[in-house]
Amino acid sequence: MTHLTPNDLMFRPGLMKGQRVLITGGGTGLGKVMAEACLMLGADVYIWGRRGNVIEEAARELMDAHGDAGGRCVGRACDIRVPEAIHEAMDEIWADGGALTGLVNNAAGNFISRTEDLSPKGFDAIANIVFRGSFFVTLDAGKRWLAEGKPASVVSILTTWVWHGGPFTVPSAMSKAGLNVMTQSLAVEWGNRGVRFNAIAPGPFPTEGMSARLNPTGGAMAEEKDPMIPLGRNGEMRELANLAVYLLDPGSAYVNGQTIAIDGGSHLLTSGGFSRLASWGDAEWEAARNAIKATNEKDRAQRTV
Ligand code: HXC
Ligand code: NAP
Repeated sequence: MTHLTPNDLMFRPGLMKGQRVLITGGGTGLGKVMAEACLMLGADVYIWGRRGNVIEEAARELMDAHGDAGGRCVGRACDIRVPEAIHEAMDEIWADGGALTGLVNNAAGNFISRTEDLSPKGFDAIANIVFRGSFFVTLDAGKRWLAEGKPASVVSILTTWVWHGGPFTVPSAMSKAGLNVMTQSLAVEWGNRGVRFNAIAPGPFPTEGMSARLNPTGGAMAEEKDPMIPLGRNGEMRELANLAVYLLDPGSAYVNGQTIAIDGGSHLLTSGGFSRLASWGDAEWEAARNAIKATNEKDRAQRTV
C-alpha cells in the first residue's frame, strides 16, 4: 500500500531531482512513506531491509505508483548490523550513480518489556540495529563524503524518549539517545565539510511494525483523542514525510544538529505541572479566579505598608 498523493506534499514537483537518498528500513512503515515522498519529488531512492522479499516488493510498488516523477527506487537486502554488508551495499549505490546526497537512519528494532526481563541477547537485538547499525551506516557513507568533498544531509529517526527516557523500552531509549548525541557531535565535527546532521523525534504514528511490538495486546499506547496528546490525535504519514523532505533538501541547509519533535506536543505535556488544567471549563476557571481574589483581598487587608 502507498500512502501519499501529490496534495499531501508541501513541495513543488521535481524538488528532489538529482538527489540520491538512502533510507534504511525503507520497505515498511515510516521509512517507506519517506521513500515515497522523495520518489514523488524526483529523487533516486535506495531502501534497505533484512527481508529481501519485503524490500523488493516495496521498491516495485513505489515505482509503479510514482516512477513517472523521474526518479528511481532501488530495494536491496542489507542487514545494518553487519559493517561488511553495509560497505558492499554502499559500494553498489556509489557505482550506480555516484555519491548519496542524503541518508535517513530509520531502521530500528523495538519491543516493550520490563527491563528486569531482558537478557543480554534481548538488549543486543535492539542496540545492534539502532545504536551500532545506524552508526556503521553513517560512518560508511560519511567516510566517502569526506574523501570526495561531497555535501550531504543525514536525518536520523529517533523518539521523544531521547529527552525524558523510555520506561519499558530501555534498550531503544538508550540507543536513540546515543544517536541524538551522534547527531549533535557530527553536526559540529563534519559540518564545516558540508555534511550536516539532524533528527526527527516522532510521537505515535501507528505502523504495523510499531503496533506489533509496542502495543501487542492493546492498551499500551495513547489512542486517538487521548488526553496524553495535546493535539488529540496520532501523527499522519504525510506530516512526517514533509518534515523529512525539508531536512534532506538543501532548502534547510542552515539547520544543523537539531532534533525536531513531531508529536502533537506530547513530550511537553508534563512541563510546568499544570497540563491537567486543559480539561477545566469556564466554571472551574471562575471558581479558581474567585478563590485567588479572596486570598489577595485577605492579604491586602493585613498590609501595613
Ligand atoms: C523480551 C525479547 C522480546 C520481548 C525478543 N526478545 N522479543 N525479550 N521481550 N518481547 C529477545 C529474545 O528472547 C532473544 O533473547 C533476543 O531478544 C533476540 O530475539 P530474536 O527474535 O532472535 O531477534 P531478531 O530476530 O534479531 O529480531 C529483532 C527484534 C524484532 C528487534 C527482536 O522485534 C525485529 O526484528 N524488529 C524490527 C522491526 C521493529 O521492531 N519495529 C518497531 C519499531 S517501532 P534470548 O536471550 O531469549 O535469546 C519504534 C517506535 C518507537 O521503534 C516510538 C513509539 C512512540
Ligand atoms: P517498522 O515498519 O517496523 O520499521 C522498521 C524497519 O527497519 C523495517 O523495515 C525493518 O525491516 C528494518 N530493519 C530492522 N532491522 C534492520 C536491520 N538490521 N537492517 C536493515 N533494516 C532493518 O516500524 P516504523 O514504525 O516504521 O519505525 C520506523 C522508525 O521510526 C524507527 O526508527 C522507529 O524507532 C521510529 N519511530 C516510529 C514511531 C511510530 O510511532 N511508528 C515513533 C517514533 C519513532 P526488516 O525487518 O526487513 O529488516
